[in-house]
Amino acid sequence: MKSLTLTRPDDFHLHLRDQPFLEVTVPPTAKHFARALVMPNLQPPITTLEKLGYYKKRILAAAEGYDFTPLMTLYLTEQSDPMEIKRGFAEGLVTAVKIYPQGATTHSEAGVRDLKKTDAVFQVMEQIGMPLSIHGEVVDPAIDIFDREKVFLERVLAPLRADFPALKIILEHITTKEAVDFVTEAQGPIAASITAHHLHLDRNDLLAGGIRPHFYCLPIVKRAEHKEALIEAATSGNPKFFLGTDSAPHAQAAKETACGCAGVYSAPVALGAYLEVFEQRGALDRFEAFASFYGADFYGLPRNPGKITMVKEDLEVPEFFVYGCEVVMPFRSEAKVAWKPKGDQLFKEEDWEEE
Ligand code: NCD
Ligand code: ZN
Repeated sequence: MKSLTLTRPDDFHLHLRDQPFLEVTVPPTAKHFARALVMPNLQPPITTLEKLGYYKKRILAAAEGYDFTPLMTLYLTEQSDPMEIKRGFAEGLVTAVKIYPQGATTHSEAGVRDLKKTDAVFQVMEQIGMPLSIHGEVVDPAIDIFDREKVFLERVLAPLRADFPALKIILEHITTKEAVDFVTEAQGPIAASITAHHLHLDRNDLLAGGIRPHFYCLPIVKRAEHKEALIEAATSGNPKFFLGTDSAPHAQAAKETACGCAGVYSAPVALGAYLEVFEQRGALDRFEAFASFYGADFYGLPRNPGKITMVKEDLEVPEFFVYGCEVVMPFRSEAKVAWKPKGDQLFKEEDWEEE
């Protein structure tokens, strides 16, 4: 049987939500990934070191028995205190600051509207080498939703890069050829995370022949030519591109409704879904660096000591997972994924069977 043993990977973009969901959301990630960068867009958002410290403890409690380290992010607001951010970074409690343009995505209401108001934070972060994680979409209602990432590059990211040339920037979950080109060509420390679902889906998958709410996420999936550019970037061996699933669970009822939430729940299948793409492109030899090296290197973290073995064997994905009093539909629900962890305990019956 075909198998691939690699250094345990990191997920550099993950939504774990909070209790009562952590017992559901933490294990699928902890079984595959040694570390994950945990997004702070809870409601209310994680805007202070105090809240962040308690949130980290709740995650660690849910990860008991797993070899898993959550890397924490702080939610940037126009009121964020640069000195508090500096202290959190120095103490090792905060790995990165996350910026959500106000109104861009799930729970971004408290995000930043006027970037000038957070200049003092960026100055300090640039000095201390602290990474800034960016949701890269403009919120201007006049801009077509399919163009919001592209316009963000011109209107926001290019000026930010020019104003803070040494700031470590991660453009999250990129979805366009323009973003690939921008990150490839930009000067200074800049990188991008790429999700598994954006390597698999284009907008026809979302909209042609019926609307599929479980493929709706932000930034929205684009034309096939953009998916192709993302696949090329991910499999290219360019260290500016690395793994970040953006796994973002929402209860089925919140997705399948008149105004559904954005987010794809991919954590249980993401590693195998990435491998499918790398295998199709004859790039399995480049997968370990994409999944386990480039992100850690960019964040200035040591590479993980452990290994994981993935085997080329069908993973039967359940229709849903129990999610509090509701259910959540995973990416590839009721389908098969071609790779799974060796000795997989991922789909133990109690993980998904209704009580
Ligand atoms: C994320 C969520 O649900 O928290 N949704 C999404 O579509 N990606 C937020 C985000 O990362 O934009
Ligand atoms: Zn996200």
